[in-house]
Amino acid sequence: MAIEKTISIIKPDAVAKNVIGEIYSRFEKAGLKIVAAKMKQLSKEDAEGFYAVHKERPFFGDLVAFMTSGPVMIQVLEGENAVLKNRELMGATNPKEAAAGTIRADFAESIDANAVHGSDSLENAAIEIAYFFKPEDVVSR
Ligand code: PPS
Repeated sequence: MAIEKTISIIKPDAVAKNVIGEIYSRFEKAGLKIVAAKMKQLSKEDAEGFYAVHKERPFFGDLVAFMTSGPVMIQVLEGENAVLKNRELMGATNPKEAAAGTIRADFAESIDANAVHGSDSLENAAIEIAYFFKPEDVVSR
């Protein structure tokens, strides 16, 4: 199986709940390695650029406002099948629909304050990693 890299963002609601370590523990137990990480207060421009693909959607303004409401923790995860594995650990976008034991079922409040973001494809993972990290700041191991 291919070794992949993907982006994970712990959103402002989960950072405020002080569950970064608990979420990291789930990644590590699933065999994903953290190969880059930084905490960041996103600017409006950062969030609008990151979510540009959603700019025509009705919730775009709410999404940008939420993602800039407090610091986020951004990490690159590496491992076998990392894109899908991270999405499985996260659970469904709407926490009401997220399977028991997933990050969103356990830590998310609502469809906007939903604890984590994860790249949805290998192609988008590469774009999202490059959005936040220089190549030399990602240390494969
Ligand atoms: S997905 O997984 O990208 O297909 O999910 P999608 O439903 O397309 O949603 C894309 C991101 O928008 C967020 N979202 C919302 N934010 C605020 N309000 C509402 N109503 C809302 N609906 C969806 C959702 O959490 C996704 O964020 P990310 O960071 O990509 O998970």
